[in-house]
Amino acid sequence: MVTPSAPVPLGLIIDPDGDTVQSLSTLLTDKGFDVLHCSSIAESRAALKDKASATAVAFVALDLPDGDGLELLGKESLLQDHTDVALMHHDDDPARAQRGIREQASYFFRKPLDTEFVSELLEDISQEYEQQRTQAGVDDSVAIDQFGMMRGNSPAMRKLYRVVRKVAPSNATVLVVGESGTGKELAAQTLHQMSGSSGPFVAMNCGAIASELAESELFGHEKGSFSGAERRHAGYFERAEGGTLLLDEVGEMPLDLQVKLLRVLETGKFRRVGGTQDLTMNVRFLAATNRDPETAIRDGLLREDLYFRIAQFCLRMPPLRERERDVAGLAHAFLHELNAQHDNAKRFSQDAIEAIVAYPWPGNVRELKSAVERAYILAEQTLEPEHLPEGQIEQAGEYLRISVGESLQQTEKQQILATIEACDGNKKEAAEALGIALKTLYNKLKEYDEKD
Ligand SMILES: Nc1ncnc2c1ncn2[C@@H]1O[C@H](COP(=O)(O)OP(=O)(O)OP(=O)(O)O)[C@@H](O)[C@H]1O
Ligand SMILES: [Mg+2]
Repeated sequence: MVTPSAPVPLGLIIDPDGDTVQSLSTLLTDKGFDVLHCSSIAESRAALKDKASATAVAFVALDLPDGDGLELLGKESLLQDHTDVALMHHDDDPARAQRGIREQASYFFRKPLDTEFVSELLEDISQEYEQQRTQAGVDDSVAIDQFGMMRGNSPAMRKLYRVVRKVAPSNATVLVVGESGTGKELAAQTLHQMSGSSGPFVAMNCGAIASELAESELFGHEKGSFSGAERRHAGYFERAEGGTLLLDEVGEMPLDLQVKLLRVLETGKFRRVGGTQDLTMNVRFLAATNRDPETAIRDGLLREDLYFRIAQFCLRMPPLRERERDVAGLAHAFLHELNAQHDNAKRFSQDAIEAIVAYPWPGNVRELKSAVERAYILAEQTLEPEHLPEGQIEQAGEYLRISVGESLQQTEKQQILATIEACDGNKKEAAEALGIALKTLYNKLKEYDEKD
């Protein structure tokens, strides 16, 4: 649960420097925040035990008397997903700033702070809290905000929107990290949409490219460059020219290709297979992965130098189980879409909504969307709990209960989604377990998303 319980947002200042504390306290109080001040890592850890969920914004100094402020970020962090984290330092420190921004921070401020900028940020956050407070009595389930192509009102999603708004218009590379089905591709499309670019959005599935054809797929090839190359072929780089290229599942890309890709990213130039000329490209790069990047680097699946290049910013998609506020709203939104498509007015029973909210949705938004779609087909007018997979899919994800008369397609889809979940989102492992090619698995997932 990430929903802050306190109606008044809390601003946490972690810094022993009196001047900064003074100026931030004034700004926070002016904007209606409660203020909590800690001078060290130890003190902050103790304070966060109780206050993490109420903390709307945390200002963290890099140099603290008992260590590096970055120790409060990352996997072990007590700071929650919905909290906006701003790092502060008296000087530029690009290495630590980058590390912090990849981990959890959204901002890096140099001291003395730009009070105007901080004040605008606080205004933004406090307005959001005010909105949530006034909406508290409203039926959440129907009102769900949409930002670009993403839906969600939860604090974690709102924070994500703020980051997207900020990085979209820049040319920075962004790595989107999150479990399967959390909306990584949708976030990438939204980044493209908000970038102001009128060029194309092209997604390349790094895991689905056969390694012998990889170079030609990326760089394109000239006619006759190898047997079978009957005409000139434009690769992904050329097709994305003037727009955005998403390197999807970048952790699945063969290592030798990662080296070549890095070179292209660094020089901005590439050459078609069999070509003699270097071509210059103008492409914004985004990447996505459902692996934890640090673990992928440690396991030798992702080159660290490529990671640094593609992750100037890191966007972490929160799993649906941490966005309880969004579940009912998303379910309604999907149902409305289906009703609009089929000129219908089906609705959820109260019990169905309760079952939806209670289920943990390990397959995230994709699983929810497909459950609503299935229930929509099965139900006459009112979608009831028995139309939902809850109770049909064992929660452990090890068994599927399949109803007689269910379509083969539906059974296949259930099996595929449950196997991916059992493999912790690792599609390569899931494809092996299912006995199908990885590419086939990707094609099926794509088909489900398009049909939904
Ligand atoms: N916030 C959201 N609002 C509306 N629809 C969403 C949202 N997040 C995900 N979806 C829908 O859920 C499905 C899966 O989303 P997407 O393909 O972006 O996930 P993903 O994280 O890239 O998954 P994978 O790791 O399996 O590739 C899509 O149909 C998408 O439209
Ligand atoms: Mg995806």
